[in-house]
Amino acid sequence: MAVVTLLRTWSRIAGRLVSKSLQGQIVQFKLSDIGEGIREVTIKEWYVKEGDTVSQFDSICEVQSDKASVTITSRYDGVIKKLHYNLDDIAYVGKPLVDIETGALKDSEEDVVETPAVSHSEHTHQEIKGQKTLATPAVRRLAMENNIKLSEVVGSGKDGRILKEDILNYLEKQTGAILPPSPKAEIMPSPPKPKDRTIPIPISKPPVFTGKDRTEPIKGFQKAMVKTMSAALKIPHFGYCDEVDLAELVKLREELQPIAFARGVKLTFMPFFLKATSLGLLQFPILNASVDENCQNITYKSSHNIGIAMDTEKGLIVPNVKNVQICSIFEIAAELNRLQKLGSAGQLNATDLTGGTFTLSNIGSIGGTYTKPVILPPEVAVGGLGTIKALPRFNQKGEVYKAQIMNVSWSGDHRIIDGATMSHFSNLWKSYLENPGLMLLDLK
Ligand code: COA
Repeated sequence: MAVVTLLRTWSRIAGRLVSKSLQGQIVQFKLSDIGEGIREVTIKEWYVKEGDTVSQFDSICEVQSDKASVTITSRYDGVIKKLHYNLDDIAYVGKPLVDIETGALKDSEEDVVETPAVSHSEHTHQEIKGQKTLATPAVRRLAMENNIKLSEVVGSGKDGRILKEDILNYLEKQTGAILPPSPKAEIMPSPPKPKDRTIPIPISKPPVFTGKDRTEPIKGFQKAMVKTMSAALKIPHFGYCDEVDLAELVKLREELQPIAFARGVKLTFMPFFLKATSLGLLQFPILNASVDENCQNITYKSSHNIGIAMDTEKGLIVPNVKNVQICSIFEIAAELNRLQKLGSAGQLNATDLTGGTFTLSNIGSIGGTYTKPVILPPEVAVGGLGTIKALPRFNQKGEVYKAQIMNVSWSGDHRIIDGATMSHFSNLWKSYLENPGLMLLDLK
């Protein structure tokens, strides 16, 4: 889904500019048409109750769609007269969310949307807490698509309004590169401890037997899974598996972990897997492509926005690290830390969750050796990673040594990717990870 539309969408949820003639009346604050087929959201939290006085930009509630978690904020000064839903209810597009007896509506410029409905990204929070950032929806969209915080852009328009040129100039100053957000100071991972990798024993809860069947609606992330996986069924999947010896990478990570830690970033194996994938995609761009609905055209994507299947309490989500092709391993690690932190809090924003071009699923961090990963449309390939295990293998002299074996399972869209291409890509990926020094040669 286009991020563009999603942003517009969320802006529209609560961002309806109302006529000043409504002041002093009870206004039904409706969930507007949010497009992209989204017809409903789940109410996750109310921040107000009936009788509360609210001001413009005060948080009203948090809602969850199958795409993102979003805070709805008030457009009005007034008193909450009625909440139309209970917690966990499904709220429908076009139906009233709350009734507000309006007070004075603060000045608002008719051509400026101040995004009163915000997703949980850092930059939107800053905007809300700080002063108004004037920008048209198109400009906000451009900034959002390129991960630019509006608060960091100096507006050259009237009253400091941010223009399209200001965003483009800002981008240009960043050497033309579209960079992911920089590491967050507040991320303080626990110090690394060199150890044999063992997957933690699952904490077993006492079994509960209720003796009753239970039916509940499919909603939230699960609903998104129904949609994407049903679409994935249309893709003829081709599978290819191999094993990779990560002995060298294990050593290298142990050396780099304390350094990354000192910089406030937890360094796992994933950043190396992502970088090796991106280096491989540079040589095999067909794996970073998409096909149109009737399979008439292939679009080769220039950005390597690599999605990470993430297991969260609320279910499976797949945020992506943008532009891996121009990121250092450290930058990828920092971005992964950010995505994991927000993902586990259910606070990823729409930009993080859309625009992926290839996916990796590290099921090995939970357990398991093989997987049969399913392609996330409109992508054309996905990789599933098993647990790294110390196992005996033979070296070239025929001697047994302690290897660190991880199995990788690739799936490709067999309409456009053949087995040989997948095998060449996998061999390259494997060689980068078995000889991590090789990556240095090709890093930009
Ligand atoms: N084998 C062995 N150890 C692994 C591993 C693997 N394949 N993957 C990760 N680990 C280790 C990490 O190095 C880390 O150890 P450390 O503390 O010594 O550094 C530990 O396991 C925890 O790593 P984690 O916090 O999970 O980070 P990660 O960057 O390795 O993985 C995710 C991040 C988001 C991919 C992972 O947390 C996750 O959610 N995996 C499940 C994916 C899933 O559900 N896939 C199925 C989709 S249908």
